[in-house]
Amino acid sequence: MKQSMIKGTGMFVPPNIVTNQDLEEIMDTSDEWIRQRTGIRQRHWITEECGSSDLGYEAAQKALDMAGWTPEDLDFIIFATLSPDIMFPGSGCLMAARLGLNSTPVLDIRQQCTGFLYGLATADAYIKSGLAKKILLVGGEVHSSGLDKSTRGRDVTVIFGDGAAAVCLEGIETDEKVGLLASALHADGHFASSLMTELPASRLVDRFPKELSLDDPRYYPVMDGPAIFKKAVRMLPKVTNEALTTAGITLDQIDLIIPHQANKRINQAFGQFLKVPEDKVFHNIENYGNTTAASIPLALHEAMEQGRIGTSGQIVLFAGLGAGLTWGASIYKFF
Ligand code: ACO
Repeated sequence: MKQSMIKGTGMFVPPNIVTNQDLEEIMDTSDEWIRQRTGIRQRHWITEECGSSDLGYEAAQKALDMAGWTPEDLDFIIFATLSPDIMFPGSGCLMAARLGLNSTPVLDIRQQCTGFLYGLATADAYIKSGLAKKILLVGGEVHSSGLDKSTRGRDVTVIFGDGAAAVCLEGIETDEKVGLLASALHADGHFASSLMTELPASRLVDRFPKELSLDDPRYYPVMDGPAIFKKAVRMLPKVTNEALTTAGITLDQIDLIIPHQANKRINQAFGQFLKVPEDKVFHNIENYGNTTAASIPLALHEAMEQGRIGTSGQIVLFAGLGAGLTWGASIYKFF
């Protein structure tokens, strides 16, 4: 039986750091409010033209180096983003071209904060079915160019950061119960309007309505923060238990939980609900904010670099909820 193994990880964030104090200069907010409500101290925002594919390219190079692969070794690429470089084609095609590839298949997915979890499950299905052996999975976002940086958009704008992270996955033949042990994925479009960017909209006869100014709030992300917060705290433990049941393991066998980094308070509440010690839940939101599809692989890369996870036999659980709404959990055992 082929199992999906992580052979390399990489991350990249634009060098420009935007602190909470920097945001105080441009909108009515405070370092205290942001830290208390979200745990975020700073985020990285681009300062010059740079797409999600460009950030993804840098992260991908690092993951490929760690795996000891060249781009030509890849037989499939998955790119997860809610902020594609341009309307079309997708960022995956643009990144693959930068990697020097001209025929490798590429799939872009639009599952927001659970993009990495959906990507992992898709990669695993490609590997198990024999459709691919060596897959590059990238999550990348450039949020900053589309945020409302006035006080009107402060609830959303302070939480988002730019960044990318990548993993190389390989199908390895083994009878051992290792690699991706389980994925549980869900979506409920009834809550689409609780977190969305509505315009431009191809469903309209005029995609850019002429009567609206480009400063109309519908061109920016809007979020019902408290509603999403409550949903996350309720659904994350539920989907975690579902993934544990599928994997046939118990919570005490999990060495580290790497949740999506949307809000430190959500993740602390998630950990308390599961009754796990605080140090079993990994956080790096303080340095990057919410980098959406990049958030879980970025946290995985840092957790591995810090020696928190990655030793043979250790088990990590990923979980997240975001726009869609979409939510999910995955369990991975290191070989
Ligand atoms: N600075 C200062 N004050 C602010 C800010 C800000 N940046 N933003 C909002 N406020 C004010 C509000 O105006 C409100 O003031 P009022 O009481 O006078 O009306 C007050 O702070 C409280 O606002 P709430 O929205 O109730 O604040 P809350 O404690 O819920 O925190 C937050 C807001 C951080 C957004 C939180 O709701 C949250 O994290 N929600 C979940 C986010 C999430 O998980 N998103 C999904 C992933 S993202 C994705 O999928 C793309």
